[in-house]
Amino acid sequence: MGRKKVMFFCLGNICRSPVAEGVFLHHIEQRGLGHTFHVESSGTSAYHVGEAPDPGSREVVARRLGADISGQRAQQLTRRHLDEFDVLVAMDGNNRRDALAMRPNAKILLLRDFDPADRGADVPDPWGGGISEFERVFDIVNRSTLHLIEWLLQPEEDR
Ligand code: 4NP
Repeated sequence: MGRKKVMFFCLGNICRSPVAEGVFLHHIEQRGLGHTFHVESSGTSAYHVGEAPDPGSREVVARRLGADISGQRAQQLTRRHLDEFDVLVAMDGNNRRDALAMRPNAKILLLRDFDPADRGADVPDPWGGGISEFERVFDIVNRSTLHLIEWLLQPEEDR
């Protein structure tokens, strides 16, 4: 079996989903499982295609996790991604709705479906906000992603 393909997406692919990509990669690499997943992130919009993650996202991931996400470049979510990725994870309900408009039968998860503190909530958009908003996004994304990883590592019939 090939590597499981995981796509995190938000609106711009410069604030929230780059954090999710970096956090997911960090935790699976820590478990020695980096080779079992192919991880990307994207945005439902083309507003920031080609740009590096927002400085707030880069700063919190560096400080809280010691990981560097500055090499990421924003891309737009495509129908092909929706067909080819095994696990599609939206940051909020609008992102999910926009993806379903592209592929009505796609199976789209919300990251916070895996957040025991507020199941199914949106990851708040920190764009244009201060560093405390990026810290809050980091906490939510980190907690939810750890639970997502546990879920992905369970045998599919047990989920
Ligand atoms: P993101 O944040 O979806 O978490 O990357 C945003 C980035 C840019 C915009 C909106 C949200 N924007 O409207 O340009």
